[in-house]
Amino acid sequence: MSGRFITFEGGEGAGKSTQARMLADLLEARGLNVVLTREPGGTPGAEAIRELLLDNRHDWDVRAEALLFAAARSDHVENAIGPALDRGDWVVCDRFIDSSRAYQAGGDDLSDDAILSLHTIGSFALMPDVTFLLYAETDAIASRLAARDGDESDRIGGRPAEYHARVAQRFRDLAAMDPERFILIDASGTPDVVHERVLRAMAPLLGEGG
Ligand code: TMP
Repeated sequence: MSGRFITFEGGEGAGKSTQARMLADLLEARGLNVVLTREPGGTPGAEAIRELLLDNRHDWDVRAEALLFAAARSDHVENAIGPALDRGDWVVCDRFIDSSRAYQAGGDDLSDDAILSLHTIGSFALMPDVTFLLYAETDAIASRLAARDGDESDRIGGRPAEYHARVAQRFRDLAAMDPERFILIDASGTPDVVHERVLRAMAPLLGEGG
């Protein structure tokens, strides 16, 4: 079976990283070649840009921020995701272009077209085959974040609740605009329960019927 490009998206603390890992483990257990990766990051160059982006000592303007995310993504696509897909591997990525559309365009005021233009320049407009959007109640997320970050939230995670509410709304809008690609997953419950929901949604992709 030739590979697919699967992304996990959502706001802070929705459990994307855990779900991406659980799905990658399952696909590997089925004998598929899988690359599990994340954004910003996934290559040495993009991980270096991640440090710059999330470090509280920098005060990037929204345009510089969008360019840095696009630059990190470009390196990631060129040196990790693209080669993996060319080999026929499955790629499971924790965040991708929709995070830039939701955070830099939804949370801040860049247009979606501007973000997509940067993506065309940087990454040949590569889009995932499937995007799981994890959504959860704000209260559940707040307690997960407190457990994860304590007082140590990064430059973007630490932004006000109103910013994150706009991001969450933009993710929902993107999903509504592209129902063929997006699959909404209720992120409430234990990681195993959420994983089951992801697997049920994956069944058709794995040739297992609906
Ligand atoms: P993470 O916490 O999921 O690793 O992501 C790091 C932060 O970067 C998170 O606050 C979301 C943010 N982000 C953007 O603002 N735009 C992007 O394009 C990506 C990939 C992440």
